Amino acid sequence: MVSEDAGVDRCYKLLLMGESNVGKTSIILRYTENEFQTTGISTCGVDVKCKFVSVDNTKIKLVIWDTAVQERFRGLAKNYFRGANGFILVYDITNKNSFDKLRGWMSDAKEKIDNEYKMVVIGNKRDCEDEREVDTNTLKEFGEKNGVLTMEVSAKTGEGIDSLFNEMVRELLKLKNVGFVHDDDESEVNKTYSNLDNSRMPEKKHKCIC
Ligand code: GTP
Repeated sequence: MVSEDAGVDRCYKLLLMGESNVGKTSIILRYTENEFQTTGISTCGVDVKCKFVSVDNTKIKLVIWDTAVQERFRGLAKNYFRGANGFILVYDITNKNSFDKLRGWMSDAKEKIDNEYKMVVIGNKRDCEDEREVDTNTLKEFGEKNGVLTMEVSAKTGEGIDSLFNEMVRELLKLKNVGFVHDDDESEVNKTYSNLDNSRMPEKKHKCIC
C-alpha cells in the first residue's frame, strides 16, 4: 500500500451498483477504512472514496464511486459511467429481489459505457447464512451465463472484501488501454459533481481525483 499520489502508475474508476440496502456503502467502508456500521445511511447521488494499492510493483489509485439506487437518480447515472473502468454489481444474498434486479443494472452499465471495462457480481451479507435466499450455485450460473466474475462477501466480517478488489485490480491490469492518468480527469470529475443534487458529497479531504 502507498499513501500518496506521487508515483501512481494507474488510476481506475470503479462503480458500485445495486439495489438499496444491499451493502454498497458498507463494502466501500470496509475496504477503505476497515470499518462497519450497523445503521445504513441511504446514499443520495454519489459518494467517492480512494484507495492506493500496489500490485507487482505497479502503484494503483482506485477511485471508488458509490452510486445511489433511487429510480430518480437513474437518469443522472450516465454521468457516473463516464470513464468507468470497473463495475461491481452488488446484491444481498438474503434478498432474492436484489439478485433479480442485477440484469437491469448490468444493462444500464453495458448501454452507457463505451470504453473497455471489467465487471464483477457480488453477493453481500454472506454472514447471514440462515436468511439466505440466493444460493451460491445460482450466482455461479449467472456469472457463467453473463461472462462475469462472481464472489460472495461480507462487509460485516470483512470476508472476501480485499479479494474482491484485488481480483478487480488484476482484471483491470489486463486491459492495455485504460487506467493511464489524463490531464483532463479533474475537470471530468468536477463536471459530474456539478450535475448532482447530493446531500452526501464527499468532503474535500475525501474528494480524490486522478
Ligand atoms: P443505499 O445507500 O440505500 O443504496 O444502501 P447500500 O447498498 O449502500 O447499503 P448500506 O451499506 O447502507 O447497508 C445497508 C444495511 O445493511 C446496513 O444496515 C448495514 O449495516 C447492513 N449490511 C451491509 N453489509 C452487510 C453485511 O455484510 N452483513 C450484514 N449482516 N449486514 C450488512
